[in-house]
Amino acid sequence: MRDGQARAIHLQDYRAPDFRVERVALDVDLYEDHAIVRATLAMQRSGAADAPCRLDGVGLTLEQLQLDGADWPSTHYHYDGEVLTLEGVPDRFVLATVVRLAPQLNTELEGLYRSNGMFCTQCEAEGFRRITFYPDRPDVLSRFVTTVRADAVRYPVLLSNGNPIAQGEEGGRHWVTWEDPFPKPSYLFALVAGDLSCQEDRYVTGSGREVALRLYAEPQDLDKLDHAMASLKASMLWDEQAYGREYDLDIYMIVAVSHFNMGAMENKGLNIFNTSCVLAHPKTTTDAGFQRVESVIAHEYFHNWSGNRVTCRDWFQLSLKEGFTVFRDQCFSADMNSAAVKRIEDVDMLRAHQFPEDQGPMAHPVRPQSYQKIDNFYTLTIYEKGAEIVRMLHTLLGADDFRRGSDLYFERFDGQAVTTDDFVACMAEVSGRDLAQFKRWYSQAGTPQVTVSGELEGGRYRLSVHQQTPPTPGQPDKQPLLIPLRLALLDGAGHHLPLNAQGDTELLLELTEPQQQWEFALPPGVERVVPSLLRGFSAPVMLAGEDSEAALRHLLTHDDDGFCRWDAAQRLYRAAILRLVDATGRAAEEAAQLAPAMKAVLAGAGEDAAAAALLLALPSATQLADSLPEFDIAAVQQAHDALAAALGHALATDWWQVLERWAPVGEYQPVAADIGARALYQQAASYLAATAQPEIGDVMVRRFAEADNMTDQLGALRLLVHERLQGADAALADFARQWQHEPLVMDQWFGVQASAPWQTAAGIEALLEDARFDWATPNRVRSVLGQFSNANAVAFHRADGSGYRLFASALQRLDQLNPQMAARLAGACGRLGRLPAVQQHALREALQQLVRQPLSGNLDEVLTRILA
Ligand code: TRP
Ligand code: ZN
Repeated sequence: MRDGQARAIHLQDYRAPDFRVERVALDVDLYEDHAIVRATLAMQRSGAADAPCRLDGVGLTLEQLQLDGADWPSTHYHYDGEVLTLEGVPDRFVLATVVRLAPQLNTELEGLYRSNGMFCTQCEAEGFRRITFYPDRPDVLSRFVTTVRADAVRYPVLLSNGNPIAQGEEGGRHWVTWEDPFPKPSYLFALVAGDLSCQEDRYVTGSGREVALRLYAEPQDLDKLDHAMASLKASMLWDEQAYGREYDLDIYMIVAVSHFNMGAMENKGLNIFNTSCVLAHPKTTTDAGFQRVESVIAHEYFHNWSGNRVTCRDWFQLSLKEGFTVFRDQCFSADMNSAAVKRIEDVDMLRAHQFPEDQGPMAHPVRPQSYQKIDNFYTLTIYEKGAEIVRMLHTLLGADDFRRGSDLYFERFDGQAVTTDDFVACMAEVSGRDLAQFKRWYSQAGTPQVTVSGELEGGRYRLSVHQQTPPTPGQPDKQPLLIPLRLALLDGAGHHLPLNAQGDTELLLELTEPQQQWEFALPPGVERVVPSLLRGFSAPVMLAGEDSEAALRHLLTHDDDGFCRWDAAQRLYRAAILRLVDATGRAAEEAAQLAPAMKAVLAGAGEDAAAAALLLALPSATQLADSLPEFDIAAVQQAHDALAAALGHALATDWWQVLERWAPVGEYQPVAADIGARALYQQAASYLAATAQPEIGDVMVRRFAEADNMTDQLGALRLLVHERLQGADAALADFARQWQHEPLVMDQWFGVQASAPWQTAAGIEALLEDARFDWATPNRVRSVLGQFSNANAVAFHRADGSGYRLFASALQRLDQLNPQMAARLAGACGRLGRLPAVQQHALREALQQLVRQPLSGNLDEVLTRILA
């Protein structure tokens, strides 16, 4: 290992801090080849009288250290490169340090670094210690005053958290002092210096306070900020209406940065965003991109309360802010667009990505017990499963009690650093419910498997439900969970049956035991009952039922729950594809079987094109392979593609009709109805493309050339390239020429190629060697290595092992520059234990070879877990 003392941190070792910081004054002096950080900390002892004062500081060059205005003797302190220990300090003192940094050499993108000529910071989770000596933990909250100094011409814009209170200029350099009135943990600190353009607007809060909204980007991107601004205003209004939460500072700033490890960061009053999550323009951004911007803007804004005003006691509580905030942004997006479509998209994502994580070597509870590198725990489990847990509380308590619980939480813990237990306690208190069993969702890893069977007998319907959670690393034995199961029963005509004496047609069952039964008395004459289970995906579980094809067809036709309808379609497709795994020759028969139901969906598509597109989409081969004991992607992909082609032929007339009826008309708008129309068009085109008939190639070439927006243009390019239709190469070349000056679009150009199912290791290597590729830009790295390893399972898992070898050597190279990114990408190897023997052997060999190299602690932790 290169840098990692592979030391695990344990939740049970949590101790309150020995010292608090009452006030912080930072003075950051920025130069081309270095930066000087002067920090003045008013420290106060809060723990044992004899405890030394320990401050975090990683890789800092200490130039001066003073206590209460006098040099502190070197015999009384010790710095080991990670911790500065001061011995014999008084209970109250003012510590002044001066450190020297080299931001221009920082490729890890953590702490203070440069991106396209600007300076910016990323402090979550533990980046502040790379800027100055500090108790860098979220339960130390302090008031910050920050002065930023830099060359006046190169860096006209100087920003930090809060409000500007002073500024000046002398000798070609200038400075601005910012004051943040709210005590905050160091992970929420930020500063920016650069030559940035600004789009400004204002928002008046419900109580009449005026807030200046400033979005900063590089000058050439100033025309891509309208959507973010509109999304921000909508988020501010939504949080007032849905949660009674107003914004609390006079200024809200967002800065777009090209080099960023994640999506965005909620620094108090000064969010920093990956350009991919804030910039949007019809010409350069797809519908999915527009929706991503809307949801990430909302997510970071909502953190102002769920995360900043009430923060986390320690990083084991990360889901306290992330799970809750994801739930909040999901509800916001549901309100802004189609709620049913949003729910399906979120569930699909959870099942495609979080479920495998929860079944693999990285499986961990939503509140982990231990970690080595906290960066490795910004996972789908913390974020998405965490959001499902909050959603279940909402489901169990109902909207009113949930709101009273969140009000109580924000009031009681405002300005504090707290735990997920504190959050649940508020929900228990307002509802009078005992949530002790429910809390196992936070401590127990793994996806629960729920098995259901129903019996109709003597005018009664009996539902038997069984739950079981498989073992995960370090947790062999699992306890039963409280699982909310939303249920309806449909009769033979597709009507809801009454489920109790009050005539309710939907019930929330609470499964608490390993095995439970419910009985429903049916009205006379009922001969058929089809259960509609887990409505709205009421719990993050894997549901197995009897799933007769007839029952699934019945649900697809009649169920009024959007999720259940879609899930019924998914199960039908799944069964068909799995039957084809050993018999691809039967694809035409399977397609003929499915055709009537799909035609019915198409006939009703006028009501909701987006929902229709989802109902017509096959589950990915990766997801299907994940649901089988062995991850045999080659076989499943072949069956999947055979069915897609057969459906392309069987419904050819219908698909061509879709292309006519849903062809783009009028000016591009990223609104739900139009997005749905484009999604349906793309779905139909993809079935036709799967047949590889020349006609669809011609149509796609034309669509590519005539598109006035990125959704249509990229949709056409993707089908041309992935299906290797005539004209694909010319389109790729045209695209690169047209968009050479738009990095986010060029990311798509790389991504389309890296995710093509015919891609080879040599092809990926060529992309990595392309002059336009850049190892130091995470978005570009993700567009090649992320797409290849995560969105192109057939190519990545090719039996000759060439994909693995290439990937391992790429990880090694990337790890030298950016350990967080390398570790995150390495997660794609988590299926190791479930691969067929040949692949398993090849991947293990490649990874074992890799761990013998000097690696970062981040990458080492992930690889060690995978190889264990
Ligand atoms: N708190 C951020 C969010 O979810 C996540 C984040 C941004 C992050 N940058 C990071 C986490 C760097 C770890 C490291 O909104
Ligand atoms: Zn977040």
